[in-house]
Amino acid sequence: MTTLTVTPTTARVDDVAPVLPVVGGSTLVPLVDGRQVPYANLDVAASAPALVAVAERVERVLPLYASVHRGAGYLSQVSTALYEQARRTVGRLVDARDDDLTIITRNTTDSLNLLAGCVPADPATGEPGRVLVLDVEHHANLLPWQRDTEATVLTGARSVAATLDELRTELEDAARSGAPYALVAVTGASNVTGEALPVGAVVEAAHAVGARVALDGAQLVPHRRFSLARSGVDYVAFSGHKTYAPYGAGALVGRRDWLDAGTPYLAGGGAVRRVRVTDTSWHEGPARHEAGSPNVIGAVAIAAAADALGALDPGVLQRHEATLRARLVTGLEAIERVRVVRAWDDAVDPVGVVTFTVVGYDPGLVATYLSAEHGIGVRDGRFCAHPLLGRLGFDAGAVRASVGVGTPGSDVERLLAAVRALVADGPQARYDVVDGLWVVVDDPRPVPDGLGLDALLATAATTTDAFGCVTY
Ligand SMILES: Cc1ncc(COP(=O)(O)O)c(C=O)c1O
Repeated sequence: MTTLTVTPTTARVDDVAPVLPVVGGSTLVPLVDGRQVPYANLDVAASAPALVAVAERVERVLPLYASVHRGAGYLSQVSTALYEQARRTVGRLVDARDDDLTIITRNTTDSLNLLAGCVPADPATGEPGRVLVLDVEHHANLLPWQRDTEATVLTGARSVAATLDELRTELEDAARSGAPYALVAVTGASNVTGEALPVGAVVEAAHAVGARVALDGAQLVPHRRFSLARSGVDYVAFSGHKTYAPYGAGALVGRRDWLDAGTPYLAGGGAVRRVRVTDTSWHEGPARHEAGSPNVIGAVAIAAAADALGALDPGVLQRHEATLRARLVTGLEAIERVRVVRAWDDAVDPVGVVTFTVVGYDPGLVATYLSAEHGIGVRDGRFCAHPLLGRLGFDAGAVRASVGVGTPGSDVERLLAAVRALVADGPQARYDVVDGLWVVVDDPRPVPDGLGLDALLATAATTTDAFGCVTY
């Protein structure tokens, strides 16, 4: 992965254009004052909008859709070929080695749960394999190890360098004591701060003591050119819906031996060679873990995203995101009472995820205000990363803004202006907490819950985006 330094800037980024067109790029949403404004989607880290190229590919293959791996009909053969072709493209997205397996899953959570069932037991004791994780992880890269393996959670230090030292010491001590780790599971980019440990250093430390490395690529794969082959990482997990392909698929890509020997993730049709009443012979390869009818459309969608992202100069992708992130951080830090959350002081090349708090305002209120008065979508809460938020002193949660290839700089400027207005003048509408959630008192906007399809579609007007594409 090439890294690039973008000098933090206070310069406005209104004229920074999206890198690729996304579906719904300028959908209008209602405000409490009766106006409609283009939705500023700064919640890309949660679920990214589909690339137009992805939606178009899906539309083209839908007439060919039929059962996969199950039918003699011509379209079943076509769909099977589409699925297997998509699998190869998904593997190429992360530069898989020749003998790696690419398993199509539902999402990152699914992928990591699958892998947790494949970590081999300690050959000496027969006990579940040992896995080392940090407390900065998303719950998806924490709970599967705690449930299915012998997991140790290391508390991160305040710097990347000190955290790496801790990691090395723990790995070496465990190896010396005769209870070595089988796996180190780390994030490729934190969903709270966008930061990560340098993956090369983690691989070096793990491989030095015979441990493998699994990378939670949920926030990395959509935002950087990641290579299994070059990094030496053994497994990577990621989600289609964060990779601009929201059609219900994700992937786990990595070393074949553990996956071929591991417990089949789902028991059912497609995963077996032969079934008798008394015994079953399971497939090896991806089929072992893909029982049930595969999600061909989901796989095709990720492949389309891989093609579109792969066609971009990686420098363009990185520069776009780094510019928006730098402006977000410097812009937010320049506002009185705003605190930006950081896990490490010396992280390099973080992705476009910036979490902050506004002293005196509950994060849920800030997020509700941004939506109701400015048409801006962000995430608030603890982001499925409770241990990290707790350690950093943000147990009450925070607000997260995140950007991607479809984000224009003007959305970042809108957020900064809205936070400045909040700090200067307070919210203009009245807010209250109902059932634990912040709501606008007497909200004049249509309440989506309970509306029929036509009314739901009408709440967000159809328009065209910056590329002239119809949004729907
Ligand atoms: C870093 C990270 N890991 C894992 C996940 C889980 O992804 P999914 O919900 O697609 O399974 C997320 C989702 O936000 C994430 O940000």
